[in-house]
Amino acid sequence: MYEWWKDEVVYQIYPRSFKDSNHDGIGDIQGIIEKLDYLKELGITMIWICPVYKSPMDDNGYDISDYYDINEEFGTLDDIDELIKEAKKRDIKLIMDLVINHTSDEHLWFKDAISNPNSPYRNYYIFKEGKDGQAPTNWRSVFGGSVWEKVPHEENMYYFHAFSKKQPDLNWENPIMRKDIYKMINWWLEKGIAGFRVDAINFIKKNQEWCDGPVDGIDGLCNCFDYSRNIPGIEVFFKELREETFDKYHCMTVAEAVGVPYDQLDLFIGKNGCFTMMFDFNYSHIDITKNEDWFPPQPWTFKEYKEKLFSSQKEIAKTGWSASFLENHDMPRSMSRLIRNKEERTPKTAKLLGQLFMFLQATPFVYQGEEIGFLNNERQSIDEFDDLNTHAQYQRALNEGYSEKEALAFINRRSRDNTRSPMCWNDQKFAGFSDVKPWLGINEHYKDINVEAQINNPDSVFSFYQQLIALRQNPLYHHTFVDGEFMPIDTEEHVIAYIRKSDSQTILCIHNIQNKKTTYPIQQDFKVLLSNEDVILEDNKIVLGAYQAITLLL
Ligand code: GLC
Ligand code: CA
Repeated sequence: MYEWWKDEVVYQIYPRSFKDSNHDGIGDIQGIIEKLDYLKELGITMIWICPVYKSPMDDNGYDISDYYDINEEFGTLDDIDELIKEAKKRDIKLIMDLVINHTSDEHLWFKDAISNPNSPYRNYYIFKEGKDGQAPTNWRSVFGGSVWEKVPHEENMYYFHAFSKKQPDLNWENPIMRKDIYKMINWWLEKGIAGFRVDAINFIKKNQEWCDGPVDGIDGLCNCFDYSRNIPGIEVFFKELREETFDKYHCMTVAEAVGVPYDQLDLFIGKNGCFTMMFDFNYSHIDITKNEDWFPPQPWTFKEYKEKLFSSQKEIAKTGWSASFLENHDMPRSMSRLIRNKEERTPKTAKLLGQLFMFLQATPFVYQGEEIGFLNNERQSIDEFDDLNTHAQYQRALNEGYSEKEALAFINRRSRDNTRSPMCWNDQKFAGFSDVKPWLGINEHYKDINVEAQINNPDSVFSFYQQLIALRQNPLYHHTFVDGEFMPIDTEEHVIAYIRKSDSQTILCIHNIQNKKTTYPIQQDFKVLLSNEDVILEDNKIVLGAYQAITLLL
């Protein structure tokens, strides 16, 4: 069957921060509808919206209390239907976020399960007795603290949560629970959405031996990843999930699965794997610790980054298809993260990073604001942050003996609020996002970096992203960008170059990621398809300017 999703260019929307249409300082579905023409102009073909379902918003919607309804502040189910319809008019597809590793503790299933040991929903979650007066295991949750939370009014009983304690994990061992989840998935697919981004899906199988692990922190706990992520047996759940839902609709599914070893890619994206594509985090996590702590900062070089990026392309091509991304709502802005010298975080650099990712062998994902070259936002105190993981990481840094100043520097660098601050549409008060004070502070750079300042400027980052997308989608080259082989080129450390080669075409992409000139030897004739600066040729060498990016047809 035709793998239509390879042809898409996806735009990720963080609904809370995209556009407020009803003056409450919170982005909403009508706000997205207002901006569909903008997205059409950019050239994307699909949007992925982060969760808008009913939720107490402990983790900004990744804690769902009703899968069949929309959180009031975002709108209604009718608004979703309208979004699907309006997007379709513009040939834009919609994928939703699918959060099925856990629900909110305010979901009716969980409320019943925790208040009544005989509830039919008890087995929808993971309840376990403690041992020796302590939690069942010594595992640490992703956001810090034990994965076990004590059940009130019951002696020695705990429930499991891999993320926050307001996100109890569903018990995938229970076939009745699974059926309920499939019913919900199919209900959404029936609405005419094109598929899902599937949240934290490699967590659904837990090691059933429930044994302690070796303590690896001053909290006396052990990272839960080895016991609750990529656990053998997960493939059985994957197979059933796919057959009961996705397969029936030939829909697109992109797995969010951190830490998948390359020899397990098959379960995810192989012929019989569960998903049509996945995000690979091996290169994007280059600056955080193995346990995914944001501190202390991890040293890395462009040589390592390039190796990881190339090996990701190579390994995924052996098995299936990937989804490339420079930014998402769980990461800081890419320029702030990858370009160490502040002065070098310029529009030209943003264009280079955009090109580096747009032409990989993958379905490209662009995160809101990336297309105008957004930067991180420096906040002065922990009180200015919203994200629960930011607060947790800050607290852990303090517990480990770092000063408040050091802890603040860590979170400013890595906080998820860096990509979650409201989208900047113009240089007016509240940046055109809203006319009242937004739920999270506006990015300090909004006077210089905003949509209005860029949209009609042919030299802007926005215009370059338009050209990148148009080039990838151009029928003359599209087949090479999609099906062409990815061939890494061996170059000096700060030059990342690769070839995309099909039967009929060879396209060369060169990126000089440094603040100085260098040269790139070239023997044959070429045609420039795109560049962020004039291309200069001297004695069979291209003179690469600082942060120059070039795409050539050979
Ligand atoms: C995923 C989401 C993240 C969320 C977590 C728990 O990693 O991208 O935002 O906090 O899952 O649902
Ligand atoms: Ca609103």
